[in-house]
Amino acid sequence: MEKKITMDTIVNHCKTRGFVFPGSEIYDGFANTWDFGPIGVELKNNIKRAWWKRFVQEDKNTYGVDAAILMNPHVWEASGHVSSFSDPQMDCKQCKQRFRADNLIEAHSKGTVVPDKMTNEEMEQYIADNKIKCPHCGGFDWTKIRNFNLMFATSRGTIEDASAKVYLRPETCQGEYVNFLNVQRTMRAKVPFAIAQIGKSFRNEITPGNFLFRTVEFEQMELQKFCHEKDSMNIYADYKARALKFIEDLGLAADHLRYHDHDKLAHYAKAACDIQYLFPIGWQELNGIHHRGTWDLSRHQEFSGKNMIYTDPFTNEKFLPNVIEYSIGADRLTLAIMCEAYDEEQLENDTRIVMHLHPALAPYKVAILPLQKNLSEKANEVFATLSKQFMCTYDEAGSIGKRYRRQDEIGTPFCVTIDFDSLEDNTVTIRDRDTMEQIRLPIDQVAEYVEKRIKFN
Ligand code: GAP
Repeated sequence: MEKKITMDTIVNHCKTRGFVFPGSEIYDGFANTWDFGPIGVELKNNIKRAWWKRFVQEDKNTYGVDAAILMNPHVWEASGHVSSFSDPQMDCKQCKQRFRADNLIEAHSKGTVVPDKMTNEEMEQYIADNKIKCPHCGGFDWTKIRNFNLMFATSRGTIEDASAKVYLRPETCQGEYVNFLNVQRTMRAKVPFAIAQIGKSFRNEITPGNFLFRTVEFEQMELQKFCHEKDSMNIYADYKARALKFIEDLGLAADHLRYHDHDKLAHYAKAACDIQYLFPIGWQELNGIHHRGTWDLSRHQEFSGKNMIYTDPFTNEKFLPNVIEYSIGADRLTLAIMCEAYDEEQLENDTRIVMHLHPALAPYKVAILPLQKNLSEKANEVFATLSKQFMCTYDEAGSIGKRYRRQDEIGTPFCVTIDFDSLEDNTVTIRDRDTMEQIRLPIDQVAEYVEKRIKFN
Protein backbone atom coordinates (compact mmCIF):
# COMPACT_ATOMS: atom_id res chain seq x y z
CA MET A 1 0.00 0.00 0.00
CA GLU A 2 1.55 3.34 -1.06
CA LYS A 3 2.06 5.95 1.62
CA LYS A 4 0.19 9.14 0.86
CA ILE A 5 2.28 11.49 2.95
CA THR A 6 5.60 12.98 1.96
CA MET A 7 8.75 13.25 4.03
CA ASP A 8 8.42 17.05 3.84
CA THR A 9 5.04 16.83 5.58
CA ILE A 10 6.56 14.79 8.41
CA VAL A 11 9.60 17.06 8.74
CA ASN A 12 7.39 20.13 8.84
CA HIS A 13 5.06 18.57 11.41
CA CYS A 14 8.00 17.52 13.58
CA LYS A 15 9.60 20.97 13.48
CA THR A 16 6.43 22.88 14.28
CA ARG A 17 5.01 20.57 16.96
CA GLY A 18 8.16 20.09 19.05
CA PHE A 19 9.11 16.57 17.93
CA VAL A 20 12.41 17.28 16.16
CA PHE A 21 14.36 20.45 15.40
CA PRO A 22 17.31 20.97 13.04
CA GLY A 23 20.57 20.63 15.03
CA SER A 24 22.20 23.96 16.03
CA GLU A 25 19.40 25.81 14.26
CA ILE A 26 20.26 29.32 15.48
CA TYR A 27 23.61 28.90 13.66
CA ASP A 28 21.75 27.94 10.48
CA GLY A 29 21.91 24.28 11.46
CA PHE A 30 24.58 21.62 11.04
CA ALA A 31 23.87 19.29 8.14
CA ASN A 32 22.16 16.02 9.00
CA THR A 33 22.06 16.55 12.74
CA TRP A 34 18.72 16.75 14.49
CA ASP A 35 17.68 17.61 18.05
CA PHE A 36 14.72 15.83 19.61
CA GLY A 37 12.41 18.42 21.15
CA PRO A 38 10.17 18.07 24.23
CA ILE A 39 7.60 15.93 22.40
CA GLY A 40 10.07 13.88 20.35
CA VAL A 41 12.30 12.96 23.28
CA GLU A 42 9.31 11.43 25.09
CA LEU A 43 8.33 9.46 21.99
CA LYS A 44 11.85 8.14 21.40
CA ASN A 45 12.32 7.29 25.11
CA ASN A 46 9.05 5.36 25.06
CA ILE A 47 10.18 3.44 21.97
CA LYS A 48 13.49 2.58 23.63
CA ARG A 49 11.66 1.53 26.81
CA ALA A 50 9.31 -0.72 24.81
CA TRP A 51 12.30 -2.38 23.09
CA TRP A 52 14.11 -2.90 26.40
CA LYS A 53 10.97 -4.31 28.02
CA ARG A 54 10.34 -6.75 25.18
CA PHE A 55 13.91 -7.93 24.54
CA VAL A 56 15.65 -7.53 27.92
CA GLN A 57 13.13 -7.36 30.76
CA GLU A 58 10.89 -10.14 29.44
CA ASP A 59 13.74 -12.44 28.42
CA LYS A 60 15.50 -14.05 31.34
CA ASN A 61 18.50 -14.97 29.19
CA THR A 62 19.23 -11.42 28.01
CA TYR A 63 21.46 -9.04 29.96
CA GLY A 64 21.77 -5.31 29.37
CA VAL A 65 25.00 -3.30 29.32
CA ASP A 66 25.90 0.33 28.71
CA ALA A 67 29.41 0.22 27.28
CA ALA A 68 31.74 3.17 26.64
CA ILE A 69 31.50 4.94 23.29
CA LEU A 70 35.28 5.31 23.11
CA MET A 71 36.82 1.85 22.97
CA ASN A 72 40.36 0.55 22.75
CA PRO A 73 41.35 1.14 19.08
CA HIS A 74 42.29 -2.57 18.73
CA VAL A 75 38.54 -3.30 18.92
CA TRP A 76 38.10 -1.65 15.52
CA GLU A 77 41.04 -3.55 14.03
CA ALA A 78 39.53 -6.82 15.27
CA SER A 79 36.08 -5.93 13.97
CA GLY A 80 37.45 -5.05 10.52
CA HIS A 81 36.25 -1.45 10.68
CA VAL A 82 39.73 0.10 10.34
CA SER A 83 40.49 -1.84 7.17
CA SER A 84 37.13 -2.07 5.49
CA PHE A 85 34.35 0.09 6.93
CA SER A 86 34.40 2.36 3.93
CA ASP A 87 32.33 3.54 1.02
CA PRO A 88 33.56 4.08 -2.56
CA GLN A 89 33.44 7.82 -2.98
CA MET A 90 33.57 9.83 -6.20
CA ASP A 91 33.49 13.60 -6.56
CA CYS A 92 32.00 15.51 -9.46
CA LYS A 93 34.82 17.79 -10.61
CA GLN A 94 32.33 20.35 -11.96
CA CYS A 95 30.06 20.97 -8.97
CA LYS A 96 32.27 19.38 -6.25
CA GLN A 97 29.41 17.24 -4.94
CA ARG A 98 30.35 13.88 -3.47
CA PHE A 99 28.58 10.60 -4.27
CA ARG A 100 28.90 6.91 -3.59
CA ALA A 101 29.85 5.10 -6.78
CA ASP A 102 27.71 2.09 -5.81
CA ASN A 103 24.68 4.36 -5.33
CA LEU A 104 25.21 5.94 -8.76
CA ILE A 105 25.31 2.51 -10.39
CA GLU A 106 22.30 1.22 -8.47
CA ALA A 107 20.22 4.27 -9.40
CA HIS A 108 21.29 4.15 -13.06
CA SER A 109 20.62 0.42 -13.44
CA LYS A 110 17.40 0.64 -11.40
CA GLY A 111 18.73 -2.05 -9.09
CA THR A 112 19.49 -4.58 -11.84
CA VAL A 113 23.27 -4.32 -11.28
CA VAL A 114 24.67 -5.24 -7.85
CA PRO A 115 27.74 -3.03 -7.31
CA ASP A 116 28.65 -4.80 -4.03
CA LYS A 117 30.19 -7.50 -6.18
CA MET A 118 32.35 -5.08 -8.21
CA THR A 119 35.88 -3.85 -7.59
CA ASN A 120 36.55 -0.09 -7.65
CA GLU A 121 38.03 -0.43 -11.16
CA GLU A 122 34.92 -2.26 -12.38
CA MET A 123 32.66 0.43 -10.93
CA GLU A 124 34.71 3.20 -12.62
CA GLN A 125 34.51 1.31 -15.90
CA TYR A 126 30.74 0.82 -15.58
CA ILE A 127 30.22 4.53 -14.87
CA ALA A 128 32.40 5.48 -17.86
CA ASP A 129 30.78 2.94 -20.25
CA ASN A 130 27.27 3.98 -19.27
CA LYS A 131 28.09 7.70 -19.17
CA ILE A 132 26.47 8.10 -15.77
CA LYS A 133 26.11 11.81 -15.13
CA CYS A 134 26.29 13.80 -11.89
CA PRO A 135 22.76 13.78 -10.39
CA HIS A 136 23.39 17.32 -9.10
CA CYS A 137 24.73 19.29 -12.10
CA GLY A 138 24.42 16.83 -14.99
CA GLY A 139 28.19 16.95 -15.62
CA PHE A 140 30.26 13.94 -16.63
CA ASP A 141 33.64 14.59 -15.08
CA TRP A 142 34.37 12.27 -12.18
CA THR A 143 37.38 11.80 -9.93
CA LYS A 144 38.65 8.28 -9.42
CA ILE A 145 37.03 6.27 -6.62
CA ARG A 146 38.57 6.73 -3.19
CA ASN A 147 37.63 4.57 -0.25
CA PHE A 148 36.35 6.74 2.52
CA ASN A 149 36.37 5.30 6.05
CA LEU A 150 33.09 6.06 7.80
CA MET A 151 34.50 6.16 11.32
CA PHE A 152 34.91 9.52 13.03
CA ALA A 153 38.43 9.67 14.42
CA THR A 154 39.54 11.84 17.27
CA SER A 155 42.56 11.83 19.55
CA ARG A 156 42.90 11.02 23.17
CA GLY A 157 45.19 12.95 25.51
CA THR A 158 47.16 16.08 24.75
CA ILE A 159 49.39 14.89 21.95
CA GLU A 160 47.92 14.47 18.51
CA ASP A 161 49.90 11.64 17.00
CA ALA A 162 48.93 8.34 15.46
CA SER A 163 49.18 6.47 18.77
CA ALA A 164 46.53 8.72 20.34
CA LYS A 165 43.97 8.07 17.59
CA VAL A 166 40.61 6.79 18.84
CA TYR A 167 37.24 6.40 17.14
CA LEU A 168 33.68 7.25 18.01
CA ARG A 169 32.01 3.85 17.80
CA PRO A 170 30.20 3.26 14.48
CA GLU A 171 28.00 0.53 16.03
CA THR A 172 27.11 -0.42 19.60
CA CYS A 173 27.50 -4.19 19.25
CA GLN A 174 31.25 -4.24 19.83
CA GLY A 175 30.53 -3.22 23.43
CA GLU A 176 28.52 -6.44 23.67
CA TYR A 177 31.24 -8.71 22.23
CA VAL A 178 33.99 -7.30 24.44
CA ASN A 179 31.82 -7.94 27.51
CA PHE A 180 30.99 -11.54 26.61
CA LEU A 181 33.34 -12.96 29.25
CA ASN A 182 32.38 -10.38 31.93
CA VAL A 183 28.66 -10.98 31.55
CA GLN A 184 29.00 -14.74 31.34
CA ARG A 185 31.09 -14.82 34.54
CA THR A 186 29.25 -12.26 36.70
CA MET A 187 25.73 -13.30 35.72
CA ARG A 188 26.58 -17.03 35.60
CA ALA A 189 25.04 -16.91 32.13
CA LYS A 190 24.67 -20.10 30.18
CA VAL A 191 24.76 -20.28 26.39
CA PRO A 192 22.41 -19.47 24.73
CA PHE A 193 22.25 -15.99 26.25
CA ALA A 194 22.18 -12.47 24.84
CA ILE A 195 23.76 -9.13 25.65
CA ALA A 196 21.83 -6.00 24.68
CA GLN A 197 22.42 -2.29 24.74
CA ILE A 198 20.99 0.98 23.52
CA GLY A 199 23.34 3.80 22.69
CA LYS A 200 24.75 6.34 20.28
CA SER A 201 26.72 5.43 17.20
CA PHE A 202 28.52 7.73 14.78
CA ARG A 203 29.17 7.37 11.06
CA ASN A 204 30.67 9.88 8.69
CA GLU A 205 28.11 8.95 6.03
CA ILE A 206 28.87 10.30 2.54
CA THR A 207 25.24 10.59 1.62
CA PRO A 208 23.21 11.12 4.76
CA GLY A 209 19.74 12.55 4.45
CA ASN A 210 16.04 11.96 4.40
CA PHE A 211 15.59 13.48 7.82
CA LEU A 212 16.19 10.91 10.60
CA PHE A 213 16.59 8.05 8.16
CA ARG A 214 20.34 8.38 7.71
CA THR A 215 22.24 10.71 9.99
CA VAL A 216 25.83 10.95 11.14
CA GLU A 217 24.92 10.47 14.81
CA PHE A 218 22.15 8.05 15.77
CA GLU A 219 21.06 5.59 18.40
CA GLN A 220 21.06 1.84 17.96
CA MET A 221 19.25 -0.85 19.89
CA GLU A 222 21.27 -4.01 19.40
CA LEU A 223 21.52 -7.44 20.88
CA GLN A 224 23.84 -10.36 20.29
CA LYS A 225 22.69 -13.87 21.12
CA PHE A 226 25.58 -16.24 21.82
CA CYS A 227 24.64 -19.80 20.97
CA HIS A 228 25.79 -23.23 19.87
CA GLU A 229 25.97 -23.69 16.13
CA LYS A 230 23.36 -26.47 16.19
CA ASP A 231 20.76 -24.05 17.65
CA SER A 232 21.80 -21.02 15.64
CA MET A 233 19.46 -21.26 12.64
CA ASN A 234 16.43 -21.69 14.92
CA ILE A 235 17.48 -18.70 16.99
CA TYR A 236 18.01 -16.69 13.80
CA ALA A 237 14.48 -17.58 12.62
CA ASP A 238 13.11 -16.78 16.07
CA TYR A 239 14.62 -13.25 16.06
CA LYS A 240 13.33 -12.63 12.55
CA ALA A 241 9.83 -13.39 13.82
CA ARG A 242 10.23 -11.50 17.10
CA ALA A 243 11.68 -8.42 15.39
CA LEU A 244 8.69 -8.26 13.04
CA LYS A 245 6.16 -8.83 15.80
CA PHE A 246 7.71 -6.08 17.92
CA ILE A 247 7.33 -3.38 15.28
CA GLU A 248 3.84 -4.55 14.37
CA ASP A 249 2.89 -4.37 18.05
CA LEU A 250 4.20 -0.78 18.10
CA GLY A 251 1.71 0.04 15.37
CA LEU A 252 3.50 -0.40 12.02
CA ALA A 253 1.00 -1.90 9.58
CA ALA A 254 1.79 -5.39 8.32
CA ASP A 255 1.42 -4.30 4.69
CA HIS A 256 4.06 -1.60 5.23
CA LEU A 257 6.61 -4.20 6.35
CA ARG A 258 8.47 -6.95 4.52
CA TYR A 259 11.46 -9.24 4.96
CA HIS A 260 14.39 -8.75 2.65
CA ASP A 261 16.69 -11.79 2.79
CA HIS A 262 20.22 -11.03 1.61
CA ASP A 263 21.60 -12.92 -1.39
CA LYS A 264 25.10 -11.67 -0.90
CA LEU A 265 26.60 -12.48 2.50
CA ALA A 266 29.80 -11.44 4.22
CA HIS A 267 32.31 -14.32 4.00
CA TYR A 268 31.74 -15.28 7.68
CA ALA A 269 27.92 -14.88 7.71
CA LYS A 270 25.51 -17.78 7.41
CA ALA A 271 22.32 -15.75 6.85
CA ALA A 272 21.18 -12.14 6.93
CA CYS A 273 17.87 -10.38 6.59
CA ASP A 274 16.54 -6.84 6.84
CA ILE A 275 13.03 -5.88 7.70
CA GLN A 276 12.04 -3.07 5.39
CA TYR A 277 9.41 -0.43 6.01
CA LEU A 278 7.51 1.50 3.37
CA PHE A 279 8.80 5.00 4.23
CA PRO A 280 7.53 7.98 2.21
CA ILE A 281 10.80 7.59 0.24
CA GLY A 282 9.96 3.95 -0.60
CA TRP A 283 10.88 0.55 0.84
CA GLN A 284 13.97 0.92 3.03
CA GLU A 285 15.79 -1.04 5.71
CA LEU A 286 14.44 -0.56 9.20
CA ASN A 287 16.41 -3.23 11.02
CA GLY A 288 18.72 -6.18 10.47
CA ILE A 289 18.99 -9.74 11.76
CA HIS A 290 22.33 -11.41 11.06
CA HIS A 291 23.77 -14.84 11.62
CA ARG A 292 27.43 -13.92 12.14
CA GLY A 293 28.86 -17.38 12.82
CA THR A 294 31.90 -17.33 15.12
CA TRP A 295 33.48 -14.33 13.37
CA ASP A 296 33.17 -11.76 16.16
CA LEU A 297 34.33 -13.83 19.09
CA SER A 298 37.12 -15.46 17.08
CA ARG A 299 38.44 -12.04 16.01
CA HIS A 300 38.34 -10.65 19.55
CA GLN A 301 39.96 -13.82 20.83
CA GLU A 302 42.73 -13.39 18.27
CA PHE A 303 43.32 -9.66 18.81
CA SER A 304 42.92 -9.57 22.61
CA GLY A 305 44.63 -12.87 23.33
CA LYS A 306 41.76 -13.78 25.72
CA ASN A 307 40.21 -17.21 25.54
CA MET A 308 36.57 -16.94 24.46
CA ILE A 309 35.89 -20.68 24.37
CA TYR A 310 32.75 -21.65 26.27
CA THR A 311 32.49 -24.93 28.18
CA ASP A 312 29.01 -26.38 28.33
CA PRO A 313 28.38 -27.15 32.03
CA PHE A 314 26.20 -30.18 31.19
CA THR A 315 28.10 -31.85 28.33
CA ASN A 316 31.57 -30.39 28.94
CA GLU A 317 31.71 -29.61 25.23
CA LYS A 318 34.07 -26.72 24.47
CA PHE A 319 33.17 -24.40 21.61
CA LEU A 320 33.30 -20.84 20.37
CA PRO A 321 29.71 -19.55 20.37
CA ASN A 322 27.97 -18.42 17.19
CA VAL A 323 26.33 -14.99 17.23
CA ILE A 324 22.86 -13.98 16.08
CA GLU A 325 22.59 -10.22 15.94
CA TYR A 326 19.42 -8.15 15.97
CA SER A 327 19.96 -4.46 15.35
CA ILE A 328 17.56 -1.56 14.91
CA GLY A 329 18.06 2.20 14.82
CA ALA A 330 16.04 4.05 17.47
CA ASP A 331 15.83 7.21 15.35
CA ARG A 332 14.91 5.32 12.19
CA LEU A 333 12.21 3.44 14.08
CA THR A 334 10.94 6.72 15.57
CA LEU A 335 10.70 8.09 12.03
CA ALA A 336 8.79 5.01 10.82
CA ILE A 337 6.39 5.26 13.74
CA MET A 338 5.75 8.95 13.09
CA CYS A 339 5.14 8.30 9.38
CA GLU A 340 2.70 5.51 10.23
CA ALA A 341 0.86 7.49 12.91
CA TYR A 342 0.45 10.75 10.98
CA ASP A 343 -2.99 11.23 9.53
CA GLU A 344 -4.96 14.07 7.99
CA GLU A 345 -8.48 13.00 8.82
CA GLN A 346 -11.39 14.36 6.85
CA LEU A 347 -14.19 15.41 9.24
CA GLU A 348 -17.60 16.77 8.30
CA ASN A 349 -16.56 20.41 8.25
CA ASP A 350 -12.80 20.33 8.38
CA THR A 351 -9.63 18.27 8.49
CA ARG A 352 -7.85 17.29 11.65
CA ILE A 353 -4.20 16.30 11.89
CA VAL A 354 -3.86 13.42 14.30
CA MET A 355 -0.99 11.17 15.33
CA HIS A 356 -2.49 7.73 15.96
CA LEU A 357 0.44 6.66 18.13
CA HIS A 358 0.17 3.53 20.25
CA PRO A 359 -0.84 4.99 23.66
CA ALA A 360 2.25 3.42 25.26
CA LEU A 361 4.42 5.48 22.91
CA ALA A 362 2.47 8.73 23.10
CA PRO A 363 4.63 11.58 24.47
CA TYR A 364 1.86 12.70 26.85
CA LYS A 365 -0.70 10.20 28.05
CA VAL A 366 -3.11 12.80 29.41
CA ALA A 367 -3.82 16.47 28.71
CA ILE A 368 -5.53 18.35 31.51
CA LEU A 369 -7.79 21.08 30.20
CA PRO A 370 -9.81 23.39 32.45
CA LEU A 371 -12.84 24.58 30.52
CA GLN A 372 -12.23 28.09 31.80
CA LYS A 373 -9.30 29.75 33.55
CA ASN A 374 -11.20 30.09 36.82
CA LEU A 375 -11.24 26.28 37.06
CA SER A 376 -7.46 26.14 37.17
CA GLU A 377 -7.20 25.36 40.87
CA LYS A 378 -9.13 22.11 40.47
CA ALA A 379 -7.34 21.35 37.20
CA ASN A 380 -3.95 21.83 38.84
CA GLU A 381 -4.95 19.35 41.55
CA VAL A 382 -5.80 16.80 38.88
CA PHE A 383 -2.47 17.50 37.13
CA ALA A 384 -0.53 17.07 40.39
CA THR A 385 -2.16 13.67 40.99
CA LEU A 386 -2.00 12.22 37.48
CA SER A 387 1.52 13.48 36.71
CA LYS A 388 2.89 11.26 39.48
CA GLN A 389 1.92 8.31 37.31
CA PHE A 390 1.95 9.54 33.70
CA MET A 391 3.53 12.21 31.49
CA CYS A 392 0.79 14.85 31.48
CA THR A 393 0.44 18.25 29.91
CA TYR A 394 -1.67 21.19 30.98
CA ASP A 395 -3.31 23.68 28.65
CA GLU A 396 -5.77 26.46 29.44
CA ALA A 397 -5.22 28.68 26.38
CA GLY A 398 -7.82 28.98 23.62
CA SER A 399 -11.11 27.29 22.88
CA ILE A 400 -11.57 23.70 24.02
CA GLY A 401 -11.88 22.57 20.39
CA LYS A 402 -8.50 24.12 19.51
CA ARG A 403 -6.95 22.56 22.58
CA TYR A 404 -8.23 19.10 21.58
CA ARG A 405 -6.71 19.57 18.14
CA ARG A 406 -3.33 20.55 19.59
CA GLN A 407 -3.31 17.31 21.55
CA ASP A 408 -4.42 15.27 18.52
CA GLU A 409 -1.44 16.68 16.60
CA ILE A 410 1.05 15.31 19.13
CA GLY A 411 -0.83 12.07 19.71
CA THR A 412 -2.11 12.54 23.28
CA PRO A 413 -4.57 9.63 23.73
CA PHE A 414 -6.69 11.20 26.49
CA CYS A 415 -7.89 14.73 27.21
CA VAL A 416 -9.36 15.30 30.66
CA THR A 417 -11.65 18.33 30.80
CA ILE A 418 -12.48 20.00 34.09
CA ASP A 419 -15.77 21.92 34.06
CA PHE A 420 -18.09 23.47 36.66
CA ASP A 421 -19.73 20.11 37.44
CA SER A 422 -16.28 18.85 38.43
CA LEU A 423 -16.36 21.26 41.37
CA GLU A 424 -19.69 19.85 42.50
CA ASP A 425 -19.36 16.11 41.93
CA ASN A 426 -15.65 15.44 41.40
CA THR A 427 -16.16 14.03 37.91
CA VAL A 428 -14.41 14.94 34.65
CA THR A 429 -14.85 14.34 30.93
CA ILE A 430 -12.37 12.06 29.19
CA ARG A 431 -12.06 12.38 25.42
CA ASP A 432 -10.53 9.62 23.35
CA ARG A 433 -8.09 10.83 20.64
CA ASP A 434 -9.00 8.22 18.02
CA THR A 435 -12.79 8.02 18.36
CA MET A 436 -13.23 11.58 19.72
CA GLU A 437 -15.88 10.07 22.01
CA GLN A 438 -16.29 11.45 25.51
CA ILE A 439 -17.26 9.77 28.75
CA ARG A 440 -17.74 11.06 32.27
CA LEU A 441 -15.72 9.53 35.13
CA PRO A 442 -15.06 10.23 38.82
CA ILE A 443 -11.62 11.86 39.14
CA ASP A 444 -10.35 9.05 41.36
CA GLN A 445 -11.03 6.50 38.59
CA VAL A 446 -9.14 8.35 35.84
CA ALA A 447 -5.70 6.90 36.63
CA GLU A 448 -6.96 3.31 36.50
CA TYR A 449 -8.87 4.04 33.26
CA VAL A 450 -5.76 5.47 31.58
CA GLU A 451 -3.40 2.80 32.95
CA LYS A 452 -5.49 0.01 31.42
CA ARG A 453 -5.46 1.61 27.98
CA ILE A 454 -1.79 2.52 27.62
CA LYS A 455 -0.28 -0.91 28.25
CA PHE A 456 2.29 -2.28 25.81
CA ASN A 457 2.35 -6.05 25.92
N1 GAP B 1 25.90 -3.93 14.27
C1 GAP B 1 25.27 -4.07 13.01
C2 GAP B 1 24.95 -2.79 12.38
O1 GAP B 1 25.32 -1.74 12.86
P1 GAP B 1 23.73 -1.74 10.33
O2 GAP B 1 22.83 -2.37 9.32
O3 GAP B 1 24.88 -0.95 9.83
O4 GAP B 1 24.21 -2.94 11.26
C3 GAP B 1 21.79 -1.39 12.03
O5 GAP B 1 22.85 -0.84 11.31
C4 GAP B 1 20.62 -0.43 12.07
O6 GAP B 1 21.05 0.84 12.56
C5 GAP B 1 20.01 -0.13 10.70
O7 GAP B 1 19.08 -1.14 10.33
C6 GAP B 1 19.34 1.20 10.95
O8 GAP B 1 18.10 1.03 11.62
C7 GAP B 1 20.32 1.88 11.91
N2 GAP B 1 21.26 2.77 11.20
C8 GAP B 1 22.40 2.41 10.56
N3 GAP B 1 23.02 3.49 10.03
C9 GAP B 1 22.25 4.56 10.34
C10 GAP B 1 22.35 5.98 10.08
N4 GAP B 1 23.38 6.50 9.42
N5 GAP B 1 21.36 6.78 10.55
C11 GAP B 1 20.29 6.28 11.24
N6 GAP B 1 20.16 4.95 11.52
C12 GAP B 1 21.11 4.10 11.08
